[in-house]
Amino acid sequence: MKLRTLLFGLAAMGICATAAAQASIVIKFSHVVAADTPKGKASEYFKKRAEELTHGKVRVEVYPNSTLYKDKEELEALQLGVVQMLAPSLAKFGPLGVKEFEVFDLPYIFDDYADLHRVTQGPVGASILKRLESKGIVGLAYWDNGFKSFSANTPIRTPADLRGKKLRIQSSKVLEEEIRAVGGLPQVMAFSEVYQGLKTGVVDGTENPHSNTYTQKMHEVQKYLAVTNHGYLGYAVIANKRFWDGLPADVRSQLEQAMRESTTYANRIAKEENDRALEAIRKSGKVQIYVPNKDERMAFKKAMLPVHQKMEARIGSDLIRSIYRETGFDPSRL
Ligand code: LMR
Repeated sequence: MKLRTLLFGLAAMGICATAAAQASIVIKFSHVVAADTPKGKASEYFKKRAEELTHGKVRVEVYPNSTLYKDKEELEALQLGVVQMLAPSLAKFGPLGVKEFEVFDLPYIFDDYADLHRVTQGPVGASILKRLESKGIVGLAYWDNGFKSFSANTPIRTPADLRGKKLRIQSSKVLEEEIRAVGGLPQVMAFSEVYQGLKTGVVDGTENPHSNTYTQKMHEVQKYLAVTNHGYLGYAVIANKRFWDGLPADVRSQLEQAMRESTTYANRIAKEENDRALEAIRKSGKVQIYVPNKDERMAFKKAMLPVHQKMEARIGSDLIRSIYRETGFDPSRL
């Protein structure tokens, strides 16, 4: 009996050792937000499905919250092949020389998630992802986060309330123009530094989907938040091209399946995660939440829409128009 137990134990150890040895492909997946966000949860979901579908041939190591790399560094690390996968926000591809992604930063270009999905899940979205290939990167999918709100230490009801304020933005020229359009002073800053920047007054305010505001505790260092929904923040899930193309074909197609499933998951939870975060911010009692009325919303829109035309030369008027066609957006009709 004892011998049988021992043999069984040895056999089990052998199986474990074989499984571990088989996990010869390791994917380091780095990102900058908390684990408890749409992107954090979707990357964990991808890890689970990738490991299941490849029967342990692939191990995915997820590094959240800028623990491995910050914004700018993570793209460099991916190109060098030090990490294999990332999901940077669409606003962060400009410095890489792929300015087309900044089209997603145009204020008010999407009314809601349905509008957005016509682009991210259609041919226009696919053509933008394709542009990454010349940079040694494969674009795998778009994952949603949500629509941004402004926060600051002084009340925000109309665009005039942002005049002269130093506002942290992501590294996007479109966002720079958006902030200038309301008379603010744009300050590019890595995501990992925003909490401290707000706390110490290096910047007066910022813009975020609620899940980011809440999980980074920004609401604890901001007094006012206006639910403006003036622009979108979402992600492109990307991989180092040499790594991705070099995968055995069966493994690659299993990972593609895992990516399809995680994309469905990410885009299903994003809105509810952001609604939940807004509720949690409200409950914290640390920040006054204001929902602008119709006239105030219109004032924001009027102030920011000229950014579309201003950015045509940078992003391409054909691309902007192709998005208008997909969503039915008409800038002349406010
Ligand atoms: C930001 O820098 O504000 C965002 O891009 C962070 C993120 O990845 O959601």
